[in-house]
Order: sequence, then C-alpha cells, then structure tokens
Amino acid sequence: MRVLGINGSLRRDSHNRRLLLEAAELLPPGVELELYDELKALPPYDEDDDGEEADPAVERLRDAVARADAILVATPEYNASIPGQLKNAIDWASRPRGAAAIANKPVAVIGTSTGSFGGVWAQEELRKVLRTAGARVVGGEVAVPRAHVRLAEDGRLLDDELRERAQVLVDAVLAEVRPAWVVAA
Ligand code: FNR
Repeated sequence: MRVLGINGSLRRDSHNRRLLLEAAELLPPGVELELYDELKALPPYDEDDDGEEADPAVERLRDAVARADAILVATPEYNASIPGQLKNAIDWASRPRGAAAIANKPVAVIGTSTGSFGGVWAQEELRKVLRTAGARVVGGEVAVPRAHVRLAEDGRLLDDELRERAQVLVDAVLAEVRPAWVVAA
C-alpha cells in the first residue's frame, strides 16, 4: 500500500514537513510513504491550459495522486486559510471532471503552525476543499500549535496525546482503503 504525503509548505525548513515525517512513523509495516516534492513546480491553474495534455508537472501530480492508495496532507495556516499553492494543486488534481485523480481518494489532514491553535482553520478549510474536489476525507484533527517552541524544547512535534490522535487518524485513512488492514497489520 502506498500513501502519498503532501506538504502544503514550500519552505526549506518546514515544520509541516517534519510533522508529515513524524506521522509517517505511525504507518504500519508494508505501507510506503511517497513524499510529493513538486508543489512549487506546478503552474497556476488555468482552464485554458487544462486540455488533452497538461503541463508535465501537472501530469506527474495527477499520476502520483492516482497511484496512491491514500493521501496524507500536512498544511500550514496562512491568514486563517491554506497556502495558495496547495489549493492550486488540489484544483489541478480535481480535474478533469468525472475522471479526476483525487476523486474518491481517502485523505487525512494534519498540520502545524507557530500560532497557538496549530492551524485549525486551515485544516477545516482544507477538508472542505478536498471534499468538494471529491476526495473521501476522514475526520479527526491533529493540529500542532507553537511548532517552533515544541521543536526547540524536545525536537519533536507530536507529544503522546497528539501522537495517539495521529495514530487514530492514520488508521482511519488506511481503513478506508482496506477495512481489514488495521486489524490485520
Ligand atoms: C503565517 N502563519 C500563521 N500561523 C497561524 O497559526 N495562523 C495564521 O493565520 C498564520 N498566517 C500566516 C500567514 C503567512 C503569509 C505566513 C508566512 C505565516 C505562521 C505559520 O504558521 C508559520 O510560518 C509556519 O511555520 C508555516 O509552516 P511551515 O512552513 O513551517 O511548514
């Protein structure tokens, strides 16, 4: 089974990238994480450019999404919402209508920010956008506040309680792929 990890931040030392990697440690053996690392290369969505053959970066995104059994997205919060380039990627993945790579795909959302609430608004918006795009979004919130302080204190983002919640979320998204997976693993 393959999980595609998408980080909504383009920043080199992104806290969300770290969070994604910590969450990936919770995947059971046999589940592979593929990190999507071309977010910055995607052109802005333009219906005029979305014909028979889209930009190669778009084709690679659609292919990575289509090949994935499930997707784990980590998002920062920018002005109470999701970063524009992450929204742009979802817009590309949501087309063509009727054959979109993201349609019916199990997706879980996590995120961290340097603010006190861990980007809960961004996560809420992201779930809304993903549902509208046709993804099967599993519930459960893993919002890690004050990322820079946590990292300075012990170098990890997930404490015991958050790790437990992240585990429930990861198990839930895998169960969407193969209901017996979590029990069998
Ligand atoms: C932010 N940040 C932020 N944080 C938050 O909790 N709520 C917010 O609305 C915002 N808004 C915001 C806007 C913009 C333009 C920037 C650049 C930043 C802070 C943000 O959470 C912080 O930069 C994180 O570290 C970004 O995630 P990465 O890049 O570390 O993964």
